[in-house]
Amino acid sequence: MEPTGLPSAVRGSIHIESHLDGTSQRSLADDALDGLTKPFKELPPKHLYDARGAELFDRICELPEYYPTRTERAILQERAEEIAELTRAVELVELGSGTAAKTRVLLDAMQAAGTLARYVPVDVTESMVRETAEALVEEYPGMSVHGLIGDFERHLVHLPPAVGPRIVAFLGGTIGNFPPGSRRRFLRGIASLLGPSDHLLMGTDLVKDPRVIQAAYDDAEGVTAEFNRNMLSVLNRELQADFRPEDFEHVALFDEEHEWIEMRLRARREHTAFVGELDLEVHFAAGEEMRTEISAKFTPRRVERDLAAAGLELVRWLTDSDDVFALTLSRPAS
Ligand code: SAH
Ligand code: TRP
Repeated sequence: MEPTGLPSAVRGSIHIESHLDGTSQRSLADDALDGLTKPFKELPPKHLYDARGAELFDRICELPEYYPTRTERAILQERAEEIAELTRAVELVELGSGTAAKTRVLLDAMQAAGTLARYVPVDVTESMVRETAEALVEEYPGMSVHGLIGDFERHLVHLPPAVGPRIVAFLGGTIGNFPPGSRRRFLRGIASLLGPSDHLLMGTDLVKDPRVIQAAYDDAEGVTAEFNRNMLSVLNRELQADFRPEDFEHVALFDEEHEWIEMRLRARREHTAFVGELDLEVHFAAGEEMRTEISAKFTPRRVERDLAAAGLELVRWLTDSDDVFALTLSRPAS
């Protein structure tokens, strides 16, 4: 059915490219082979987000315990106009865009500034890129969407050439999911993509009372636990494994020394799982833990040093009145 509203000539175009064909299953297989045979088992967090994982993550964002989403949204609502004015950006590239819920606040501000031309979402979850692209061209007449389905650690070389000053947004504190060394390496890569009139807008969750952080990653309703265990369903489906999610409990552990929280899956009993695709037996001792994610928390100094190490200079530090979460606007150092 023809969407309502403006005639199609006025609507922006959609272009979607997938860089996952075949390689995503390969990367899961490689990551599983690597991670499940290490002395301390671990799997990279990007595999948490299949369609079901994406749905569960959306529910996490609505939980009373999960403060990052609503705090970041509030900061954006407060400061988006300033960001749009300052950057004069005509396009927004968003890494790990998900359902782009908060992104709309930025797009609204760019539209109000009269500069908005294009949105470029980048995410590993195909359904989210497609659905978001469809929804946004309708919501923002005249804006085009160029979606990239792929891994932001590997596929940013496929970004389309900029059509003017660009904001690269990396929201939600996702940068905290990298360990410190990889984080700086990743930021250096992002910095190398920025031209002199481009900006990086990055969300970072700040260090605070560990009990508050702990609760955000171990909610009373058990949604986070289900999200974490969804990794096992992904392995079962994609790699013909026989993990029983009920054999694992969700653990969220705040590491006070590193100031990051670790998500783990702990085997409730000794058992051996089999990964068909890899012809691999994976033994778990009772109580053995497998890490699925770290989420680093930041001090202003940590953010600034990471940006500086990547060759970026801070333009604006945007935070809420309780210093719960921060957004930083930065640009290539002159
Ligand atoms: N930006 C949203 C979603 C954050 S959740 C928010 O702030 O609420 C992290 C998002 O990053 C998910 O949508 C997930 O699919 C995506 N993601 C995680 N690792 C990725 C990777 N390596 N490459 C591309 N997208 C990734
Ligand atoms: N990037 C989100 C964060 O670090 C992802 C997340 C939230 C998450 N809750 C989780 C990942 C629980 C694994 C388990 O806040």
